[in-house]
Amino acid sequence: MAKINENFLKLQAGYLFPEINRRVCAFKAKNPDAKIISLGIGDVTQPLPPAIIEAMQRAVDEMAAADTLHGYGPEQGYDFLIEAIIENDYISRGVDLDLSEVFISDGSKCDTGNIQEIFGQDNIVAITDPSYPVYVDSNVMAGRTGSANKNGQYDKIVYMPCTAENNFIPEPPPMSVDIIYLCFPNNPTGAVATKEILAKWVDFARTSKAIILFDAAYEAFITDPDIPHSIYEIDRAKEVAIEFRSFSKTAGFTGIRCAFTVVPKELGAYASDGRAVEVNPLWNRRHCTKFNGTSYVSQVAATAVYTGEGKKQTKRIIDLYMNNAATIRESLAKLGYRVYGGVNAPYLWMKTPDGFTSWDFFDTLLQRANVVGTPGAGFGPSGEGYFRLTAFARPTDVKEAMQRIARSV
Ligand code: MLT
Repeated sequence: MAKINENFLKLQAGYLFPEINRRVCAFKAKNPDAKIISLGIGDVTQPLPPAIIEAMQRAVDEMAAADTLHGYGPEQGYDFLIEAIIENDYISRGVDLDLSEVFISDGSKCDTGNIQEIFGQDNIVAITDPSYPVYVDSNVMAGRTGSANKNGQYDKIVYMPCTAENNFIPEPPPMSVDIIYLCFPNNPTGAVATKEILAKWVDFARTSKAIILFDAAYEAFITDPDIPHSIYEIDRAKEVAIEFRSFSKTAGFTGIRCAFTVVPKELGAYASDGRAVEVNPLWNRRHCTKFNGTSYVSQVAATAVYTGEGKKQTKRIIDLYMNNAATIRESLAKLGYRVYGGVNAPYLWMKTPDGFTSWDFFDTLLQRANVVGTPGAGFGPSGEGYFRLTAFARPTDVKEAMQRIARSV
């Protein structure tokens, strides 16, 4: 008799974005003429820049000839991409990495979800609340939590509330924790962490022998020169942190798929007998066993992001999205809403009007303005009373969405 993994039965409602999609489809079925504008899931709308398309086309041509065909590549990724990443994203910021510390993958969603597999079941996991749902759900699936309470919080997870009162930046928890998920620039709140804040976390992790899982998928949207892009800009962070990066939002790769994870050689965790163990070989082993590498075409495309033209062209698109963010911020502020984020991040986090839960506000906006956002409660209990909008729509749609909101709410 086949038995299921009962941890899956502990999961709350369906995964957030399919659930939103389900509600939007139901609305469309009843209102087929409604022109819906999505500021919901953070999916890109601008075409890939020419430098990337040209590189992909060349790679596709190579795949069309027996002499230049690429079959399985190295599971960890091609050196040409890893070298470009190290040179442009790290050495330029004073961080030295070895080729074997960077693992190319097909997405940060998979990497942030899978990484917990290499850590023991009995680790205490600390997660910001609200957070990207993958951090919590992947630990529930793995059996590292108890059941959820009526607020949707799982037993054994240490939730670190992020609210307007703490500027959406949590303090290290008072109790001992082993694995800490941090995401800056933050999804969903748009908050960013200064060097001082990250240094506090690195200190905490070093003292507690904990590991920080640092999701930096939105670093390309940082506009303030004083905000660190990598946790490794902090002294000794390599001893305690794994960093996740993605080309999805940086260069419009949501449909192409390419990301990477940095697991430094200095990073150690402990076996049950107290022996220190290097984490890098464990991730390497897991990666090689369960993953056959990101496609050659995607990796060539990602490498083109780092060429002179690639950098200029991707920067133009990021600027366009950040202009959208400014439009949303200013328009909602004029309407009297309290809006956070959207300055160093493509996400805006607004307080819902009095008397509206975040799902009430979702339904109201959908019905009255035909605009889709993401209810804050979908990111965790402390997201209740907030609503997330993304800056990834087309500029004309953003303006139209703001006009409709002004007319309707
Ligand atoms: C989001 O909207 O939070 C992201 O696009 C989801 C993702 O990157 O998986």
